[in-house]
Formats: sequence, structure tokens, C-alpha cells
Amino acid sequence: MNVAILGTGYVGLTTGACLAYLGHRVTCVDPDAHKIGALQRGEVPFYEPHLEDLLVEARPNLQFTMDYAEAIPEAQVIFIAVGTPPGNGGAPDLRYLQAAAEGVGERMGPHFTVVVNKSTVPIGSGNWVGALVRDAVERQGRGRGCFSVASNPEFLREGSALHDSLYPDRVVIGADESQTAEILYTLYRPILDQTFQPPPFLPRPDRVGAVPLISTDLASAELIKYAANAFLALKISYINEIGQLAEKVGADIAQVARGIGLDARIGTRFLQAGIGWGGSCFGKDTAALVSTASEYGLEMSIVKAAREVNRRQRERVVEKLLAELKILKGRTIGLLGLAFKPHTDDLREAPALDVARHLLERGARVKVHDPVAMDRFKKEHAGLDVILASDAYEVAREADALVLVTEWPQYLELDWEPLASCMRTPILLDARHVLDRARVARAGFRYLTLAG
Ligand SMILES: NC(=O)c1ccc[n+]([C@@H]2O[C@H](COP(=O)([O-])OP(=O)(O)OC[C@H]3O[C@@H](n4cnc5c(N)ncnc54)[C@H](O)[C@@H]3O)[C@@H](O)[C@H]2O)c1
Repeated sequence: MNVAILGTGYVGLTTGACLAYLGHRVTCVDPDAHKIGALQRGEVPFYEPHLEDLLVEARPNLQFTMDYAEAIPEAQVIFIAVGTPPGNGGAPDLRYLQAAAEGVGERMGPHFTVVVNKSTVPIGSGNWVGALVRDAVERQGRGRGCFSVASNPEFLREGSALHDSLYPDRVVIGADESQTAEILYTLYRPILDQTFQPPPFLPRPDRVGAVPLISTDLASAELIKYAANAFLALKISYINEIGQLAEKVGADIAQVARGIGLDARIGTRFLQAGIGWGGSCFGKDTAALVSTASEYGLEMSIVKAAREVNRRQRERVVEKLLAELKILKGRTIGLLGLAFKPHTDDLREAPALDVARHLLERGARVKVHDPVAMDRFKKEHAGLDVILASDAYEVAREADALVLVTEWPQYLELDWEPLASCMRTPILLDARHVLDRARVARAGFRYLTLAG
């Protein structure tokens, strides 16, 4: 099939690379000249494992352009995968979505075209995008246009985006007519039936069989995305709230989480106590859910509470350090990890940024390191007055405390003795609760977590 993808961020580029790998002819469009230039040279403008390799494999079927006119007229399926960043009052900023929908309407071909919202968009956006496209078509004097709008929410996780796209837990297609759903079913068929030859660097996991398809109406597909993200966020905040109680009563939160999670009704994932969630999605999507619900007079009190617990976890890092060091002014605190999670250089809503800001406000010096996100940090957060360290040992030198903020595998394998011995006071706050307490203590550290 001939496919256009609008937006070459984490979602758009991953989708484009995967669909091209499956044999579809894909044109990716983005107004960002820097990104398109890089992609045309075969470079990936952000860090995502194996994406560069897949782009090489998919290259014969893949084009990149800044010009809608090179992608839209021929496309049978057009994915909108532009950013929907947080806006005012909790609702996302939809200006990129609006520009994309209007651009589609202005250039759409005469054949039947499916316009797919892959961006996470508020409930009702399917109808809104439909109206924007139709108005744009009519402004060109071309009748009402021959198209339909579908919702195909994306569930990939940065850091394992390709794996999640090729071997998803489910595919959700929301459409109000069967013809639309059938076109998307045909597009995704190699993934749904798992009939494609896996790329050598991404072998098919043993457990993966046919992928469930949820074929539903537009509003349900839109709500599925928000409800899924909010539920994952709730799980994280729930274990963090239990972690606070565990600390008070002297319980081991890791054992508690395991004891809860092995109940098949609950599941072990997303029950890791720690600093809480970050990234571009959970914060924005829970805020959007609360905002949408309020338009209907609903409170969403559980989701609001999860957001508040998450916000507090970042402050609790500073409170813990204050309790240990008594004075933060003039102290040097080292942060291990900047990215919001391992295997990405994405810094959006990263907990490390808030922790650094809180510490700086209290007069501390802050040293930082990240195995992958340093360059991006320098570009995007030049105003944050922190000291950039070349490695974890540099972060530890003469520091009064270390905070493990992002659980990069490189940090989990550190040789902790030399780190402890070069610090002013060997305090280690494991804000992800991932290190072996006994091993770190043997290395000479006073070991702390957010749950005891
Ligand atoms: N990142 C994730 O893990 C993830 C997962 C699931 C869903 N989502 C959702 O997918 C959407 C995209 O997220 P992302 O992380 O890929 O965003 P991103 O910021 O990485 O990329 C968005 C891209 O859209 C481009 N763009 C802006 N306006 C455009 C236009 N008019 N036409 C074409 N391109 C345009 C931008 O230049 C940018 O390259 C968001 O709604 C997000 O909530 C993201």
C-alpha cells in the first residue's frame, strides 16, 4: 500500500520504518529541516535501539520529505503522528494536529483515503480531524472529499519501540465504517498474522503468535489509549504510595511488590517503587484524561491522586537528601542518569530535571551524567546550571551524595568501591530501587531508597 506518515518523531519514524520493512511504500513528512536532512543522509535524529538498522533494511520502500505534496496525493493511508504536547489547563496543544489535518485536506488525491490519528489525541478528535480535512478539501473547490478518519493509538515504549511495533500485545483500530477498518486490517496483516520475516537484530520472541486486533468505534479507540496510560500510571503511583508506608513500618517494598505482583490478576510489571514516571506521555495523557472528564462533569479522582503521588516522589528525593545531609547549601550532589528512562535520550518530563532544579533552588551544586542523553541535554537544557561529568566516577568525585535517577544497565554494573572512596560522604540514594543493597553497602555506601 502507499502510505504517508506525518511526523518523524519516535512514533512516526518507527511506524514508517516498520511499515516500509513490511513492504509498504512509505513517505515520511516533517517540517523540521534538520530531521529530514538527517534522515535523508541515513542518520536517526534521536536515540532508539536498532532504528538505524531497520531504516537500512527498509530504505528501498522509504522516502523522507518536508513537502506534503510529495506524500499526500498518492497515499491510500495517511498516518498523523505529530506531537500533541501539553497545553494549557491539562488539555494537549493540538496546533500540530490541526496543521497536519488541514495539510492533508489541501492535497488529498481523488481516490478513497484513510486518515489515521496515531498521535494521542483527545476523545472526539476523530470527528474534529474529519471536519478539518473536509473544510480544507471544500476550500479547494473539490466537493467534500473521499476519505474517512480512523484512530489507531500507539502503545510503543521508547527504548523498545521497534520490538513493540513489530510484536505488539494488540492492535487497536477505531473506525466508524467497515471499509476503513478493512483497509487498516490489510495494512497491518503481516503484523497481526506474524507472517513477516523478522529482522536479524529483532528476532520474534517465542511467545508471540497471532496478535489480537481490537476493531472498534472511534471514541472507544481514543479512550483505550488514555485509559491504558492512566492505568499504568496508577500502578506506579500505587506502589510508590505503598512504598511510603513500607518505609514507616519497616517493610521491604521489593518483597511486597513481588508478593502482590505474582497474583496473576495484578501482574509484576509497573510495580517497581521509585521516583515515579517521566517522559512525554504519562503526565500529559493523565492530565488530558482529567481535562476531558471535567468537560463532562466528572472528577477522575483516582487519576488526579496518581499524578499528585508522582509529583511528590521527585520532592521526596530532595527531602531524603536533606534529612541525611541536614544542609544542602554548598553541597555537591551527583545525579546518575538524565533520560526519563534507560535506552532513550528523551528528556521530556525527566525526573532528573526536576530533582536538579529543586537541588539548585536549595543552593546545592549538581553534577550530572548520562550514557546517551548528554548531547541532547546540552542542547535542550543549556540554562540549567549543572556541572556536566564525563562518567559516573567524575560525578562521584568529591560529591556529598549520589542519586541513581535512571537505571541504565551501565550504572547497575558499576564498580561501587572506587566511587564510594572518592566521595566526601558516601551516600547513595537509589531512586529506582534497583541496586543490591548488601553489595553497595559492602562498597562503603550508606544506601537509601525512597521506600526506606
Ligand atoms: N513517544 C512515545 O513513546 C509515544 C508513545 C505512544 C504515543 N505517543 C504519541 O504519539 C504522538 C507523537 O509522539 P512523538 O513522541 O513521536 O513526538 P515527537 O515530538 O518525537 O515527534 C513529533 C514530530 O512531528 C513533527 N511535526 C510537527 N508538526 C507537523 C506537521 N504539521 N506535519 C508533519 N510533522 C509535524 C515534529 O517536527 C516532530 O518531528 C504524540 O501524540 C504522543 O503522545 C508517543
